[in-house]
Amino acid sequence: MSTAKFITFEGVDGAGKSTHLEWFAQSLRQKGIDLLVTREPGGTPLGERLREILLNQPMHAETEALLMFAARREHVEQVIRPALQRGTWVISDRFSDASFAYQGGGRGVSISKLEQLEQWVHGDLQPDLTLLFDIPIEVARQRLANNASLDRFEQEQGGFFEKVRQAYLARSQKMPSRFALIHAEQSRDEVQQNLQKIIASI
Ligand code: TYD
Repeated sequence: MSTAKFITFEGVDGAGKSTHLEWFAQSLRQKGIDLLVTREPGGTPLGERLREILLNQPMHAETEALLMFAARREHVEQVIRPALQRGTWVISDRFSDASFAYQGGGRGVSISKLEQLEQWVHGDLQPDLTLLFDIPIEVARQRLANNASLDRFEQEQGGFFEKVRQAYLARSQKMPSRFALIHAEQSRDEVQQNLQKIIASI
């Protein structure tokens, strides 16, 4: 059986997860680990087209949830599962926890509907490890303020992000064994020291 690991990065916009993801992936590669970095929504040609729509086109909250999971179905079948089966580690910039946080917490889509979609789309596959970059919303908002162009999610108000943050924390408390909480308001060096410890433990 393959021992390749499936690792996901999560957190509100502005937490800095994408920067840390690059460093984390590079550190694992230096240890000789064969790995693939991917993202959601996206990760496949169809998924990237759906991403374009999801980030720009206003739509009903449940349509948004369904499209997120449709893109995910393609991603799991075309990319994630085949990589893990051939022994390649997979690091994904977001996965289903983001749907529970943004569509569930942020938009108010029913958690039981999201659980049904999760069961349908990847009932037998969960990340081995999820790094949750947690940060006070005011700090995340300040970081985003430097971005020239904000997508449909990034344009939401602080109250939306507070709900997203709380939903992420609730999810991590529900499944503590696969979550590692990272305090993302720390300096880049401090976060990297934490990540180093996590790398040593896996
Ligand atoms: P993000 O990783 O923030 O992309 P970038 O760093 O390029 O801005 O992801 C894009 C957005 O998609 C983000 O605001 C959260 C949202 N999203 C959901 O709402 N639900 C989901 O299931 C996923 C995967 C992402």
